[in-house]
Amino acid sequence: MSVEEMRALRREFPVLATGIYLNSNSTGALPIAAREGLDSFGSTWAAWRDEVWKERFFPALAEHGDALAALVNGPRGSVVTDANVATLLSRVVSCFSFEERPRLVTTTLDFPTAPFLFGGFSRYGAEAVVVPSRDGVTIDLEALLAAIDERTRLVCIPHATPGTGALVDLAAVVARARSVGALVAVDAFATVGAVPIDVTALDVDFLLGGSHKFLCGMGAAFLYVKPALLPSLSPAATGWMGTEDPLAFGDGLRHATGTRRFLAGTPNVMGAFVSLPGLRMVTRLGIAAIRERSLVLTQRVITRAKEAQLGVASPESPERRGAIASLSFPGDANVHKRLLAQNMVSSYRGYLRVAPHFYSTDEEIDAFMDALVTFAREESK
Ligand SMILES: Cc1ncc(COP(=O)(O)O)c(C=O)c1O
Repeated sequence: MSVEEMRALRREFPVLATGIYLNSNSTGALPIAAREGLDSFGSTWAAWRDEVWKERFFPALAEHGDALAALVNGPRGSVVTDANVATLLSRVVSCFSFEERPRLVTTTLDFPTAPFLFGGFSRYGAEAVVVPSRDGVTIDLEALLAAIDERTRLVCIPHATPGTGALVDLAAVVARARSVGALVAVDAFATVGAVPIDVTALDVDFLLGGSHKFLCGMGAAFLYVKPALLPSLSPAATGWMGTEDPLAFGDGLRHATGTRRFLAGTPNVMGAFVSLPGLRMVTRLGIAAIRERSLVLTQRVITRAKEAQLGVASPESPERRGAIASLSFPGDANVHKRLLAQNMVSSYRGYLRVAPHFYSTDEEIDAFMDALVTFAREESK
């Protein structure tokens, strides 16, 4: 897929006509087809019959899960979806007892859910180990590997740090975890749809992500579980939808044999309807082509920032950079606000995070950086 073809898809994203939208790591642009998905959900609802569950909703959920599985190279049936990552990660942690292996290891640079959730499980005997970062920008790999030992049940790490987009050496973490018998969960929310990830090649145990950033969707999150692990995982945080036959309503409920055992209550059908069109678009474009384009665009941001002597917090080497360029300089929070007032949209989380996607153009980056550099100079006076 060429850059011109990517550019031609801009007309599918209404928000792009309202300003310069470089916000995909927070909330990505939604295609028109997502609204059509929502309309289709609405018309089904308007003519409601109970058969819809079996005839339309369950197939749509399975299609969404399988399309996500294909995107990350997992087998069919290995992914379930729900409303958000937090609820899915809670169900993963609820599979464990903590007598022999109390440690749940994560880092200070993870999305805050993991450390907070793991701390909550201390009431059940878990010990949350939150590895600090030495520089505040990248995960301290040496300290993380040292924290993973025979007491560790689960390690949760991001594919790239949400603040600065520094890719984590997943292979090293998986190798260390394997050597001591620990499991690995990867939070790929901040990269999936823009950076390739292969759950089978990496041999990760769990992968989590969601639709509303680089997957051009809204309101859906997903969980991949390594199929070989399923027989040993029975979530305590569960519900009727995680059982073998949700409509049986009898005694003696059993967890479903497949990844569906990670469902709990009424599934998130609307999220699938809204998120499938964007996911199909991303899949059609191909992650390799999106990654190539994304690196060109984030590099353009970094080059312009360096020319203006503004601090760059994201890794400059493309092999270590995720899908964003994070900048850090005096007055950056104000500059972010002033850009927003010009309809130039990025996000601020301690860093000014610029997140282009395949629909972004070189001209947009240049106009955004022209304004950013001007405002940064004014703020430094
Ligand atoms: C890396 C990462 N993990 C998780 C989340 C949020 O997950 P949830 O679906 O639980 O809101 C985000 C969202 O901003 C994120 O960037």
